[in-house]
Amino acid sequence: MPDNKNYKHVFRMIDVRKSFGKVEALKGINFDVGANEVIGLIGDNGAGKSTMVKIMTGVFPPTSGELYIRDKKVSHRHYNVRKAHRFGIETVFQERSLGEKQPLWRNFFIGRQITYPFGFINIRKEKELAQHIMLDLIGFRGAGITVDSQVSKLSGGERQGIAIGRAMYFDADLIILDEPTAALSLKEVQKVLNFTQKIKESGRACVYISHTISHVYKVADRFVIIDRGEIVANFQKSDISLQELDEFMLKYSTEKVVS
Ligand SMILES: Nc1ncnc2c1ncn2[C@@H]1O[C@H](COP(=O)(O)OP(=O)(O)O)[C@@H](O)[C@H]1O
Ligand SMILES: [Mg+2]
Repeated sequence: MPDNKNYKHVFRMIDVRKSFGKVEALKGINFDVGANEVIGLIGDNGAGKSTMVKIMTGVFPPTSGELYIRDKKVSHRHYNVRKAHRFGIETVFQERSLGEKQPLWRNFFIGRQITYPFGFINIRKEKELAQHIMLDLIGFRGAGITVDSQVSKLSGGERQGIAIGRAMYFDADLIILDEPTAALSLKEVQKVLNFTQKIKESGRACVYISHTISHVYKVADRFVIIDRGEIVANFQKSDISLQELDEFMLKYSTEKVVS
């Protein structure tokens, strides 16, 4: 998919606030994601990252502020998870468990079955497409893993890959990964980073949330740093080295403790 999209930003939020009772989780967030941009969203626990994701994916509305999808304003009242899917915005959750005992190909089409006109599931077609997603979209090269393998045989990174592949197949323009590598070994992390690279190469956008800066650094075009509900810094990768970014975060968190 070439990156000749007819919009500048796949998503944008302006002065977004979100309160949960007395807790002000987001305090006026301005944030945008370019059509083919990979954003590394970085911040401590409780900074507000997942709250941003939930607003972007229509789980709940902001308390105030504006949302734009593909440069067009969307009203909070009419935005929800179904709409987000229709607009091509997908999240890959760590905890979204695939059916363990099921063959892989079935998992691609849960809730979105391909059927014959009489309603029977078109197994041959689903297997073919699952094969296409695994090999062509995500470049899946797991040893001995085929569309017929049981989900329980997959490693953590491979599971993320399946979920990413599914989002790509269903034509997501923006794929959001909220701490995708939190529970993974280094080797598995590398797989997820490779899958993220595929998202970029296919012309899509991605928001990659992590607090391991060295992971985000490899895949992101730009880094957005959030702290206690506010965006505090924004760096193009070309303007900052991994070491400088590391030092910034370290300095920032020490100053926070002092102040
Ligand atoms: N549903 C909720 N109800 C009440 N408080 C919440 C809820 N979700 C998040 N919060 C609070 O909002 C703040 C931001 O949380 P979150 O967005 O999950 O942070 P992060 O993902 O960066 O760790 C935290 O103080 C958290 O306790
Ligand atoms: Mg979170």
